[in-house]
Amino acid sequence: MLKDMQQEILRIKKEKNITILAHSYQAEEIQEIADYTGDSFRLSELAVNDPNRTVIMCGVHFMAETCKLLSPDKKVILAKEGCGCPMAEQLSADELRQLKEMYPDHTVVAYINTTAELKTECDVCVTSSSAVEICRKIENDKILFIPDCNLGAFVADQLPEKKIKLIQGGCPIHAAVREKDVLAEKEKHPNAFVLVHPECVPAVTKHADYVGSTSGIVNYAVKSDAREFIIGTEISIAEHLQYICPDKEFYPLSKHLICPNMKRTTLPDVYKALNGGGLEIEISPEVMKKARVCIDRMLELG
Ligand code: 13P
Ligand code: SF4
Repeated sequence: MLKDMQQEILRIKKEKNITILAHSYQAEEIQEIADYTGDSFRLSELAVNDPNRTVIMCGVHFMAETCKLLSPDKKVILAKEGCGCPMAEQLSADELRQLKEMYPDHTVVAYINTTAELKTECDVCVTSSSAVEICRKIENDKILFIPDCNLGAFVADQLPEKKIKLIQGGCPIHAAVREKDVLAEKEKHPNAFVLVHPECVPAVTKHADYVGSTSGIVNYAVKSDAREFIIGTEISIAEHLQYICPDKEFYPLSKHLICPNMKRTTLPDVYKALNGGGLEIEISPEVMKKARVCIDRMLELG
């Protein structure tokens, strides 16, 4: 049944010249039919050079928006309407304007997990893998980092020469992991390497052997000679790694590391999106122009 639907999806997307992008937190059966899998910004970059004019994003809303910002002339469809990232919507453009009045001499750095509208008020974007490098290259030593205070704290720790102002915000899924969780897993698996996403709180990342983005964690585990790993990011990454490295052992840092919004997209949703369903992303020309500025700045500095 599952295989039949996958075959049908592959047939239709080929017939209609549609490209499917799947974030690495998506279900395995969706990743199997995708043209590209990976972390959020990389998917959007890959779509730019893809010849197809229509792209379906299996992920959350800001990822589809980022794809549209990078490929404004393409039709970009979010596979399932209503899948949002709570962190991306934590701060409104009005609230950010107020913060900018409080910190007028700061460069505003936005995590890519933000809405296109919020990006219009920011100076430069970062991903979880580029945040440290880009903040290092910003000439101003005063940075207002939004919206993830945990990723911001990780950057601040690496760059003591910068004055980084953090605001309260972050990923509710990663930030819910506690220090006791990492200590308990380390006790159960004393030989395991601990790989953690920087959206986790500093009390957790301080116990990590490696802190990095989802693709950074996957690459580290695949290349490492170690045999056991505790995976401190969305649970699908531990599952996916177990699938691609069957001779290694992967233990999720917490069984609660499940992003419900990422898990809402199903194979039938992808099928419907190929046939006129899903949500087509539309961004006004004004927002498009302004939001592109901080993405282009990221590409310049990255
Ligand atoms: P990546 O950019 O590392 O894929 O992260 C996206 C995300 O939503 C992490 O929670
Ligand atoms: Fe957003 Fe967190 Fe889900 Fe990533 S894991 S999409 S940051 S809620």
